[in-house]
Amino acid sequence: MKIPKDIRKNMPVCDCFIKWILDNIPKGSIILELGSGFGTTFKLSKSYKMYSVEDDPKWVGVFDTTYIYAPKKNKYYDVDILKEKIPKKYDVIIIDGPKSISRIGFFDHIDLFNTDSIMIFDDTNRKADRSMLKRVCKKLDKKSKDYDCCCDRVQKKKFSVLNF
Ligand SMILES: C[S@@+](CC[C@H](N)C(=O)[O-])C[C@H]1O[C@@H](n2cnc3c(N)ncnc32)[C@H](O)[C@@H]1O
Repeated sequence: MKIPKDIRKNMPVCDCFIKWILDNIPKGSIILELGSGFGTTFKLSKSYKMYSVEDDPKWVGVFDTTYIYAPKKNKYYDVDILKEKIPKKYDVIIIDGPKSISRIGFFDHIDLFNTDSIMIFDDTNRKADRSMLKRVCKKLDKKSKDYDCCCDRVQKKKFSVLNF
């Protein structure tokens, strides 16, 4: 495992996020994640078949997952690569990337994704991420369920789930 040097402690999802998945998603399910790391990829790849969309080459090849390297293009992942490489079938999608830019691209390109899968949005305590979630819910005419991360009270971190 070749771990990048510029590791930030606040980047991985919290343990409650991982626990929610382990408690609610059957082992062996297929998970597509947008944004890999020690939280989701490392902790979930033992129990699930993972596909990880990653824009930063430093984070490609670090964990046990099928990487889809899609560098940023036009303020999102390179959409042509997503179209070609993301799997046809998956049970869950985790929205936790790309790095350091808005995730509104997920809404803008929602037709690329399986919106019948269980969708888990991290960081929905943040204004921009909540606003993106609201737009997704409105477009799909669905309601999300919000969860407080019990282990990260200081930042009041939340994640939200659709289709469960
Ligand atoms: C929010 S992070 C994704 C975190 C991942 N889902 C997890 O739970 O560990 C978004 C992007 O930041 C980068 N990254 C992942 N873990 C990181 C860390 N610990 N420190 C700095 N950057 C990280 C990767 O390029 C990743 O695609």
